[in-house]
Amino acid sequence: MARWHKVVKPTEFERTYKFVHRRKEIAVFKLEDGVYATENSCSHEYSPLVEGMIVDGDVYCPKHGSRFEIRTGAVKDFPATRPVRTFPTMINEEDGYIYVKC
Ligand code: FES
Repeated sequence: MARWHKVVKPTEFERTYKFVHRRKEIAVFKLEDGVYATENSCSHEYSPLVEGMIVDGDVYCPKHGSRFEIRTGAVKDFPATRPVRTFPTMINEEDGYIYVKC
């Protein structure tokens, strides 16, 4: 069952942050309208998305250039054909941390 996990403060990273939950890497992205989380592994050949280029809310896989919509995980460009999983996020007003439900 998914639970909220305290991850990091938005001021502690530039645009991307990686953390590990149950041996799975999860990527946190800071966009203009908030923070989002996806699995960190590209659905094509498992390259880390936190190392990709971010353009207009999309992340380009650093290995072969597949493009994923960060907010939804949808794949928008080949060679990947499957979306990446996304996770709910929130910023707790009391402690200022990003929480990810995973
Ligand atoms: S590993 Fe990401 S596009 Fe190939």
